Amino acid sequence: MRIIRTEDYDELSLRAAEIMASVVTLKPDALLGLATGSSPLGLYKVLIEKYRRGELSFAKVTTVNLDEYVGLGPEDEQSYRYFMDHNLFCHVDIDRERTHVPDGLAADGEKEPARYEALVRSLGRQDIQLLGLGVDGHIGFNEPDRVFHEDTHCVSLDPSTIEANKRFFASAEEVPRKAYTMGVGTIMRAKRILMVVNGEAKAEVLSAMLKGPIDPMLPASILRLHRDVTIVADKAALSKL
Ligand code: F6R
Repeated sequence: MRIIRTEDYDELSLRAAEIMASVVTLKPDALLGLATGSSPLGLYKVLIEKYRRGELSFAKVTTVNLDEYVGLGPEDEQSYRYFMDHNLFCHVDIDRERTHVPDGLAADGEKEPARYEALVRSLGRQDIQLLGLGVDGHIGFNEPDRVFHEDTHCVSLDPSTIEANKRFFASAEEVPRKAYTMGVGTIMRAKRILMVVNGEAKAEVLSAMLKGPIDPMLPASILRLHRDVTIVADKAALSKL
């Protein structure tokens, strides 16, 4: 595991974007695993700038996103599909048909996890999977649990996740209670993992993830078993290590 320490969020975004961009430069038809949330926003901005300067093309790239809220569609500003369209896809030359997010409006919600898992597998292993870190140690929406869930599945969100994500909604009541998420196995199949972590609020959980036991109660701890993980974190997030 490599840890890249940065002074602040801007430097974190630059360093992480350079890693993502190098994957696409070396393999223009790369399969990118993407994440939403506040952590990767700066990184996506840098990727858009690189595209505008003609340094990077997404024309042949395929993407798979980690997760989506159950019940939210692409037009809903809080959906992760909307987030990806507006924070990255609409600004670069990617073919939207090759961008994949679980379908929050799937007619048969019971079958959606298996459909998405099969789709991701059919595309091969992610050349790189981008992750943020939840305050409770979640990756994707794999919440603390007694076991690690391997494949894409439907989860009930942890109260701390609802609390953390309510900033994007009018109130906590409006945060959906359920989400589809890639499983820990879906994530760990990636050839390479890039995690971005910023801010003091993540310092405790980042330290526990790196130093504590590998435990499904802290899902991100499983990343220690992956052979190619890079964590780009600012000094505030690394302050408890
Ligand atoms: C987002 C996701 C989540 C976030 C995590 C951190 O697609 O799967 O695991 O990465 O909740 O969120 P932020 O970056 O908003 O702190």
